[in-house]
Amino acid sequence: MGKLEGKVAVITGGSTGIGLATARRFVAEGAYVFITGRTRETLDQACAEIGRNVTAVQGDVANMSDLDQLYETVRAEKGVLDILFANAGAVKHVRIDAITEEHYDQIMGVNLKGVIFGVQKALPLMTRGGAIVVNASIVGIAKSIPSLGIYSASKAGARGFIRAMVPDLSARGIRINALSPGSTETPIFENQFPSHEAAEMAREAANALTPLKRIGTPDELANAAFFLASDESSYITGIDLHVDGGMGQV
Ligand SMILES: NC(=O)c1ccc[n+]([C@@H]2O[C@H](COP(=O)([O-])OP(=O)(O)OC[C@H]3O[C@@H](n4cnc5c(N)ncnc54)[C@H](OP(=O)(O)O)[C@@H]3O)[C@@H](O)[C@H]2O)c1
Repeated sequence: MGKLEGKVAVITGGSTGIGLATARRFVAEGAYVFITGRTRETLDQACAEIGRNVTAVQGDVANMSDLDQLYETVRAEKGVLDILFANAGAVKHVRIDAITEEHYDQIMGVNLKGVIFGVQKALPLMTRGGAIVVNASIVGIAKSIPSLGIYSASKAGARGFIRAMVPDLSARGIRINALSPGSTETPIFENQFPSHEAAEMAREAANALTPLKRIGTPDELANAAFFLASDESSYITGIDLHVDGGMGQV
């Protein structure tokens, strides 16, 4: 029997990368998953790949009515929610002189507003307790990259939000933790660079800088998301689990 048998999970940004790998893992462990993303085509591909026990809800986590639609769908189909993996994220490299209000709103909207209101709107359905995992990043607190100021601030903000939520959520039987990836081989890693050549250079640099000498795989992050979402981590709340090949530790 799987370790998430009978559980209902929402995974935002579940159509590719870490979210998709986690959706596959949760379903293999017996859960029913609702995955989200803005693009219908990749959501359909993800559902075909996951194969069973999955519903896709198209929407933007930065849009309040899309979030309402997501949780209304969960309520109508299952009536309850046990696990939220707030995973959807956006990244863009911008140096200080080029930061605009639009850039700030876009990155903060997805990575911080999307997390905060995603958690708030999930809570009424988490009537039997459960676990919330927020996908942050080692650049939130452990590493710095000069062109990722707003992205780093958004991830550090999510980390602060988690800590503040621990007492209230504990009283409701809900654990909340951050998962902080280092460089991981997903579409976001490749797409944040202007060309494939630039992405290759960044990949080689990340390989060299990481103590384990390679970047992570989506399945390695999914293992950690499963750990934090399941009773395997039943005495853990409020932590920031770095899954980064040691990059943020040295
Ligand atoms: N890969 C890395 O090196 C790395 C490192 C540190 C942290 N992270 C974090 O890991 C998380 C997952 O990223 P990933 O690496 O798995 O990248 P990914 O494969 O590009 O996945 C991103 C997912 O989020 C969705 N998404 C993006 N913007 C969204 C929005 N506004 N509303 C709803 N869904 C949205 C994407 O689908 P649509 O585009 O169709 O919406 C996709 O499903 C992110 O929070 C990222 O910051 C990644």
